[in-house]
This record gives sequence, structure tokens and C-alpha cells, in this order.
Amino acid sequence: MSVLVTGGTGFIGSHTAVQLAQAGEDIVIIDNFSNSKPEVLGKLKTITGKEMRFYEGDIRDGTVLDKIFSENAIEAVIHFAGLKAVGESVEKPLEYYENNVGGTVNLLEAMKRRGCKKMIFSSSATVYGNDNPVPFVEDMSTSAINPYGWTKVMIEHILESVCASDPEFSAVLLRYFNPIGAHKSGLIGEDPQGIPNNLMPYIMKVAAGELPYLRVYGADYDTVDGTGVRDFIHVVDLADGHVAALRYARAHAGVEAVNLGTGKGTSVFELVSAVEKVTGIKIPYEVVGRRTGDIAICYADASKAKRLFEWKAKRGIEEMCEDSARWALKNKIL
Ligand code: NAD
Ligand code: UD1
Repeated sequence: MSVLVTGGTGFIGSHTAVQLAQAGEDIVIIDNFSNSKPEVLGKLKTITGKEMRFYEGDIRDGTVLDKIFSENAIEAVIHFAGLKAVGESVEKPLEYYENNVGGTVNLLEAMKRRGCKKMIFSSSATVYGNDNPVPFVEDMSTSAINPYGWTKVMIEHILESVCASDPEFSAVLLRYFNPIGAHKSGLIGEDPQGIPNNLMPYIMKVAAGELPYLRVYGADYDTVDGTGVRDFIHVVDLADGHVAALRYARAHAGVEAVNLGTGKGTSVFELVSAVEKVTGIKIPYEVVGRRTGDIAICYADASKAKRLFEWKAKRGIEEMCEDSARWALKNKIL
């Protein structure tokens, strides 16, 4: 039996493909390269020593999905494929609903045609919205403040409904906190197109000399040093969380939302200092106004993942910064 990884050449999908292969899983990948590059496939082979079956295609295309399901015995789907830029989702909401929600419905229909009843879904801490207190616990209410966030809330509800309609279906809704870092090989990592929106890729562009300085969005929050606090998690730990979630889904039907975070908060300034320490590169910054939609503090209650999956994040902030830098600076300094 095989596991279908949608969006498997993207940032989190590629790291998960490596950890799955190393755990002995047989993997099939589908990606349309809308936000990743074909070179990743060669790198996955170099890292794992295994050729992964790959289909270039779109999850909104039922024909390609039927081809995949007929050519492979797919036991479970790990579903990463989706659009993820918050600002773009505000400008182009229909693209986000169509790709993320429409694509997922299409995928679930293809799974139904073939009797495939296990899905691990890439949700996000964004579903906790702006009003819940930290740490975020899985049974808190969910909401969103932008179309991207709503697609995650909606897909969570869709999977709940699918599980309610079919007692054999198993869905794990993995709520990621802030994934950073990269594979130790320096061969795969986050590869944002254009000017990054997220903090670590932006810091890396500054470290590489491609952008002059970091804009710190607010230093007047009620936090340790006034800057925003996030639960950064190493992408390889996150990937291992998927291996554990798959094991769980094999043994349990029904729907479970599970946080994948470390349970620890790190501020923007603390992250900048950690990058400076491990790279020896000064990161110039300027404090500017708060970014619309940002919350002050976001970190996980990570106990459910430990209880259900026997998984917890192992890698610390310095290792995350070191691995991000090795990848982003193309192995030049580490
Ligand atoms: P990514 O953009 O690197 O990977 C997504 C992959 O899906 C890309 O390779 C893209 O080409 C592919 N894709 C997009 N739409 C597709 C479609 N219709 N058909 C086939 N392939 C398609 O993003 P990522 O950071 O690896 O995120 C993976 C998932 O995790 C996404 O669903 C994202 O919303 C979610 N997530 C990410 C973060 C984060 O901080 N990176 C946080 C929370 C949740
Ligand atoms: C953002 C999204 C969130 C999404 C997540 C992963 C918003 C409001 N939230 O989360 O929905 O799930 O990315 O894609 O866009 N920061 C700076 N300067 C920068 C960039 C960021 O100071 O150039 C600060 C932010 O204000 C925040 C922290 O760094 O305090 C982390 O930001 P970011 O990496 O964008 O992640 P989130 O805001 O947590």
C-alpha cells in the first residue's frame, strides 16, 4: 500500500516525504509546481536513495486523481497542496477558496470513488483566530480573519462532516504553528518566490544581503521585549509529526484536531539574536508599525500530540536557525 502526498515538492511536503521514506513508507507525490520546483524530486532521491513516484498535476483535476488511484494502491492521503499567502488571499479570495476548498473536495471525491478513508490534513494555528488566550488548545473555538484562514476552518468542517457520514473514515487535522529550519543536507528548504512575507525567510534574505534590513512589525506588544511571540517549530520535527499522525490514523477512525508546535514562544528579537549568534551575520532592522491581523502571542499547548501520537518536537531554536541558514545561504557559511 502507498501514501499519496499532495503538494509533496513544497516546503513541508518535501521534508515529510523524506521522513516517510525513511520510516519505510511507499510514497506517491502529486504537485502542480505552482509554488515549488521540479529539482526537488532529484534532491529527494539524493537524500533518501529512493525514487518516488511523481505525478505532475492538479488536485482539482479528477482525471489525474483517478489515474493515480488506479495505478497505485493508495491507503492514505497526506494533504499539503494549497495556496498559503495570507495577503494574496485577501486580494484573490476566489482563487483561494477554489484551490484550497474546491481542491480538497475534489480529492475527497476521488478518495471516495476508490474507498480510501484516511486523510492527514495541513491545517494551521491560524484557525484559533484572534480572541483565544494562549496556549492554544485543540478544543478552543475556531475562526479566521482572512480568506486563507477561512479555507482552513472550512476544510476542517468538511472533514468533520465526512467522518460523521462514514464511521470508517479517519481524518487528522494537524494545526501547524510556525515551521522554520530545513533538512540538514542543505538540499531542501523553504523557497519563497519574490519578497517573503514570513519572518524567517525574510531574515534569511537580509542575511544573504538580498534585502537591506528587516522591518519589525511592532515593538509595543505586551510581550517579553515588545515584539511578537511565535511557536517556531523545526520542519523536520513537523514532518516526523506526520509520520506519527499516519500511524495514529491507521489505528483510529474519526476526526481529531492536533497541534504541532513546541509549546514554547520566541519573540522576533530573540529569533533575530539567535540567527546572528549561529551565523555571525548582523541583521539590521527597523521597527515599524504593527502588521494588520497580527496577534501578540501565539504558542501551542502541545500535550495532545504527545498523548495521542507519542510525538514531541525535539529541535531547539538555534538548530532551527542553523539549518535555515545552511539552506538559505546555500551552504556558504555553515
Ligand atoms: P508550499 O507552497 O511550499 O507547498 C504547497 C505545495 O502544494 C506546493 O509545492 C504547490 O506547488 C502545491 N500545490 C498548490 N496547489 C496545488 C494544486 N491545486 N494541485 C497540486 N499541487 C498544488 O507550502 P508549505 O509551507 O509546504 O505548506 C503546506 C501546507 O501547510 C499548505 O496547505 C499550507 O497552507 C499549510 N500550512 C503551512 C504553514 C507554513 O507556515 N508554511 C503553516 C500552517 C499551515
Ligand atoms: C503568518 C500568517 C498566518 C499563516 C502563517 C504561516 C499573517 C497575519 N499571519 O503567521 O495566517 O498561517 O504566517 O504562513 O500573515 N514579522 C516581522 N517582520 C517581517 C515578518 C514578520 O516583524 O518581515 C513578525 C510578525 O509581526 C509576527 C512574527 O514576525 O510577529 C511572525 O510572522 P510570520 O512569520 O509572518 O508568521 P505569523 O504571523 O505567525
